[in-house]
Amino acid sequence: MKNLLNYEDKRVVIVGCYSGMGEATARIVGGLGAEVVAVDIKKPSVEHSKYLEVDCRDPSAIDAVVGEIAAGGPLDSLFYCAGLPGGSFSNVDVMSVNFLGLRHMVEACVPRMKRGDSIATISSGAGMAYMMVLDRLKELLALSDHAEALRWVQGAEAEGSLEGYSFSKMCTIAYTLHRGPLLTQETGVRINCISPGPTDTPMMGHFIENVGQTFMDDFPKPIGRNSTAEEQGWALAYLNSAAASYISGENLFTDGGASGGLMTGSIDMTQMA
Ligand SMILES: NC(=O)c1ccc[n+]([C@@H]2O[C@H](COP(=O)([O-])OP(=O)(O)OC[C@H]3O[C@@H](n4cnc5c(N)ncnc54)[C@H](O)[C@@H]3O)[C@@H](O)[C@H]2O)c1
Repeated sequence: MKNLLNYEDKRVVIVGCYSGMGEATARIVGGLGAEVVAVDIKKPSVEHSKYLEVDCRDPSAIDAVVGEIAAGGPLDSLFYCAGLPGGSFSNVDVMSVNFLGLRHMVEACVPRMKRGDSIATISSGAGMAYMMVLDRLKELLALSDHAEALRWVQGAEAEGSLEGYSFSKMCTIAYTLHRGPLLTQETGVRINCISPGPTDTPMMGHFIENVGQTFMDDFPKPIGRNSTAEEQGWALAYLNSAAASYISGENLFTDGGASGGLMTGSIDMTQMA
């Protein structure tokens, strides 16, 4: 039987692969035969076929890097794994990296991709309540211009109505579900996201600092532990592989079942500290 998870002859771009899930994804798809173009604000210690520096808060830097990627060869798959936690990072920076930069990168890459190519991005279980604020999310999604969308975010921040991290993750899910089907219909490029639960990466230390060790310990974990970065990397590798050729416009909760239990009430939210 043909191995559909194979990445041989694929040139993949991994944004945010200095550490965590992006770094794990690079190891996984590299091991499956991909040529990895690494994109990050920080240079990974691991050698990849190419490293391009970008600050995902800056749309013109994203455009320049996408131009450079396209000039170097085909772009078969994009993984957007860059992200910032809340806490000491401003809400505007968090929204800029986690959603506005993600969307700008996706929209800049799609015209350079061909039918059957694929994109996978990362949201979070923190975005699970997206349906409750869908109208507000759609208001922002309707602003396809980066500068206009950034002004909306800055306005919401000035009003004090923005919780950057979870809102950025709701935006990513809503974008994938709302824009994904149209994008696939127009271009044949698939786009999906995953929504991880607590995962042991360098970001976990920030979450503990922000919400406390007790909250993170008490967060529902049906599998009985945090996820590893590799477990999230495999989900991303699957979604961008030929094994997932009929999956698009989908958000995959990769949290061991926590979100399903919380959304249907079989896990009691009040158990959490
Ligand atoms: N760790 C968790 O528990 C958890 C849970 C759910 C979702 N997530 C999400 O997973 C994604 C990956 O995070 P992680 O846990 O692997 O953390 P991480 O901090 O290890 O990885 C984040 C990556 O983004 C890069 N990055 C940060 N700012 C950037 C910028 N301005 N421009 C370009 N690159 C930038 C970092 O250099 C790093 O490589 C994030 O979107 C995060 O919100 C994490």
